[in-house]
Amino acid sequence: MNDALNNIIVPVLYLLSAVLFIFGLKGLTRVRSARRGNALAALAMLIAIVTTLLDLGMVDYQWIIAGLIVGGLIGAIAAIKVEMTAMPEMVALFNGFGGGASALVALSIVWKELVEPAYAGSAADALGGASAITAFLSILIGSITLSGSFVAFLKLSGKIGGQPTLLPARHVINSLLFLVCATAGIYIGFFSTEPSSMITGALVATIISLILGVLMVIPIGGADMPVIISFLNSLSGLAAAMTGFVLSNNVLIISGALVGASGLILTQIMCVAMNRTLGNVLFSGFGQEGGSADAGEYGTVRSYSPEEAAMVLETVESLVIVPGYGLAVAQAQHTVKELADLLQKRGVKVSYAIHPVAGRMPGHMNVLLAEADVPYEQLIEMDTINPEFKTTDAVLVVGANDVVNPAAEKDPSSPIAGMPVLQVWEAQTVMMIKRSLSPGFAGIKNELFEYDNNMMVFGDAKKVLQEIVSEVKSLIAAA
Ligand code: TAP
Repeated sequence: MNDALNNIIVPVLYLLSAVLFIFGLKGLTRVRSARRGNALAALAMLIAIVTTLLDLGMVDYQWIIAGLIVGGLIGAIAAIKVEMTAMPEMVALFNGFGGGASALVALSIVWKELVEPAYAGSAADALGGASAITAFLSILIGSITLSGSFVAFLKLSGKIGGQPTLLPARHVINSLLFLVCATAGIYIGFFSTEPSSMITGALVATIISLILGVLMVIPIGGADMPVIISFLNSLSGLAAAMTGFVLSNNVLIISGALVGASGLILTQIMCVAMNRTLGNVLFSGFGQEGGSADAGEYGTVRSYSPEEAAMVLETVESLVIVPGYGLAVAQAQHTVKELADLLQKRGVKVSYAIHPVAGRMPGHMNVLLAEADVPYEQLIEMDTINPEFKTTDAVLVVGANDVVNPAAEKDPSSPIAGMPVLQVWEAQTVMMIKRSLSPGFAGIKNELFEYDNNMMVFGDAKKVLQEIVSEVKSLIAAA
């Protein structure tokens, strides 16, 4: 029975779990199939856990069950209580715990295989050279992910300032710390045969890696945190895959590699959509919220009241709504949907243009609009909607700025030159709802404010939209 379990049942269940993880991820690539994808991935995780419990038997089941109950309860309560806008912080914490768990497993291997039995040889002799290296990498990457994710969490939740903290000679300090850490790794892996110095070396490597994680994330501005969280997510996957090699656990290797690869792809997508490189995000100290452009830079800007905006909207046949970060700040998603419903009832063709990095986290606008029950079919991606602006009567830009800035296409010297943007200026009329002429995340002037076909409607997005809605209602009633 034991042979059948080890040779057939466990590998088949692990394979099933890995396949379900892959289909789960595939499901997550489309809004329609995302729920099913999530459920498949959760089932895969359940199968992986149960199989591991059947397979290992090296830890008391009561500890595992206690861990499942406590961890499951904390996770469930956190997921139920978290606000949609605080999701990136929660993901940051989850990544951190994932990395921390991988580092702890690697440390426990060092303890269990070398220190406890007072093994009289090197770690490479006891574990095998490859496992000694992957155990060290698991400690290094897992600890960096743990402390880096906590800094990201603190920055995003506003518990520490979001500004980049640029230490003098930080690249030199980081390189030196990395060297010390790598030296400790090589020493404990291949040279030390003394169990007490092995565990000391492993703990030194852990502490230095934790410091490296903090130093890696503090120079990065709060607004770049979503990119960093995605990158740390990728690192947590790598750490898990490394731990999988140490434990010879195939499903951990496969699922860790999937998380590592998908996190890196998402990071790359975000960087491309901002026309930045990962190196620039990690090392330039960019990503400060707000910026330097000010109202004095603008010539003629036409300001209109919500009533005037409503009168224009009364006459249009097609409307594209462009949501941006300000929509999330104002929590205006329900009001924008109310306006869209009103206009649609009058026969106006309404759609929403979704820029891949609008807001501050991947899918930010999709999540907000889904919260307001906006039908998926009305959300149109940038590449599809751009050619349609030429034939659109009006565009309503709600709290978006950089993602509609023509400088990205028209000014090669602009910091956002080359960033793909929504070409809203091609429409007959553009209405921009924002509170002032302040810049967006990139901190630069937006000449769209001065365009002849642009109307600025100043004010908090929710308040302005509420006024437009009530004005449209009275116009309809009067008609
Ligand atoms: P932004 O360019 O940041 O502009 C948002 C605008 O919203 C601001 O100009 C602000 O102007 C306005 N606003 C703020 N609160 C408001 C309120 N209560 N009511 C009305 N307006 C309000 O936003 P975007 O166009 O969505 O572009 C996103 C930017 O973030 C891009 O530069 C992108 O590269 C960057 N970024 C995105 C991500 C992801 S993954 N989405 C990650 C990192 C960085 P006022 O202050 O005048 O109101």
